[in-house]
Amino acid sequence: MDIRKEYLEFFKNKGHDIVSSMPLVPDDPTLMFTNAGMVQFKDIFTGAIPRPANPTATSCQLCIRAGGKHNDLENVGYTARHHTLFEMLGNFSFGDYFKKEAIAYAWEFITVNLELPVDKLWVTIHESDDEAYELWQEHIDASRIKRFGDKDNFWSMGDTGACGPCSEIFYDQGSEHFNSDEDYLGGEGDRFLEIWNLVFMQYDRQKDGTLVPLPKPSIDTGMGLERVIAIKEGVLNNFDSSNFQPIIKKIEELAGKTANEETIGSYRVIADHLRATSFMLSQGILFGNEGRPYVSRRILRRAVRHGYLLGFRKPFLAKVYDTLCNILGSHYTDLNEKADYIKEQLTLEEERFFKTIELGMSIFNEELAKTKEIFSGDVAFKLYDTYGFPLDLTEDMLRDKDLKIDNAKFDELMDEQKTKAKAAWKGSGDVAS
Ligand code: SER
Repeated sequence: MDIRKEYLEFFKNKGHDIVSSMPLVPDDPTLMFTNAGMVQFKDIFTGAIPRPANPTATSCQLCIRAGGKHNDLENVGYTARHHTLFEMLGNFSFGDYFKKEAIAYAWEFITVNLELPVDKLWVTIHESDDEAYELWQEHIDASRIKRFGDKDNFWSMGDTGACGPCSEIFYDQGSEHFNSDEDYLGGEGDRFLEIWNLVFMQYDRQKDGTLVPLPKPSIDTGMGLERVIAIKEGVLNNFDSSNFQPIIKKIEELAGKTANEETIGSYRVIADHLRATSFMLSQGILFGNEGRPYVSRRILRRAVRHGYLLGFRKPFLAKVYDTLCNILGSHYTDLNEKADYIKEQLTLEEERFFKTIELGMSIFNEELAKTKEIFSGDVAFKLYDTYGFPLDLTEDMLRDKDLKIDNAKFDELMDEQKTKAKAAWKGSGDVAS
């Protein structure tokens, strides 16, 4: 089943307009990246621009959550369900239908179209939302509806803008597969997989935090396509689905080894990060030292470091790229059209980091051997400044060792460097901006 198509057609048949994915870089200085399907509609929700003739829409939106309010970068490779870039299916009502229809549509799609077994489904609602509690009981037993507070069941795009209480649908993958302390509904484990978030958009959050009611209550929903594909294919990890497996197989082929329990995380990180950086390049986000280009650089360098762990010593991502195109290129045609350019840029950035990674890793390992609790801020800064290791990459390398970096020292050195750079700039006779 082509779930993307099934979803869009389902909502088209319910009167929604199918709209294209908006660019990854939104026209909004408060947002690093488009992080949800609703971003392209944010001004319609708040009433800043008039709603379209058809007040309902559906989309499959490319999202990046690797910076800003929603950031999953650190989780990638360590959980079964997080990605830096993912596809979000969504349906939207701009002051048209509200909770009752949103809930009924979602239930129909997952039980009839996707045919997910009802006995594996759970629902959460905001603790104050008695209306949603009533409405859900038309579809699911009350024992499977749980109330949570703002942390879990109130959704906001960023620090300001449209927001509201939400209701999430979870799929239970079974205690026989997942039984850590975090594998309870609302926990951090992978057992209860959140597949769909229905946001009941009711407020416009102001800079000072006040919640101003929207002109009309609206609907914003988001369903992670990668997760649903994995569930439908009967695998317990997104990376084991047909969306990622061919990429992982290709990396194995190039590395000349197969993944094992110890190394699988590296393959997954590379597969995820290749997707994210390729899409970013396809939309003109290059690698650089600040802002979005620096996020892209951090993601790419993390992939290179994991490639290094697998034995790669020179650029390899361009060789994996065609496999990514085979999976997503027919829907995202830019990936094919700009293939040569993207491969070239990936290779150039890999080359830059491969030049310094060897020495950087040995400096890191030397310091690590001496470290008891806190990893030296001086060394972390040297790795950053001289060897091109972003700070969060060094943090990632320390993650499973339970060590923290001396961030205060790192920040101090960073400030010093910035001050020096400014002074040098002034001396050049130009005006620093
Ligand atoms: N905006 C909500 C989310 O991102 C629903 O689409 O989860």
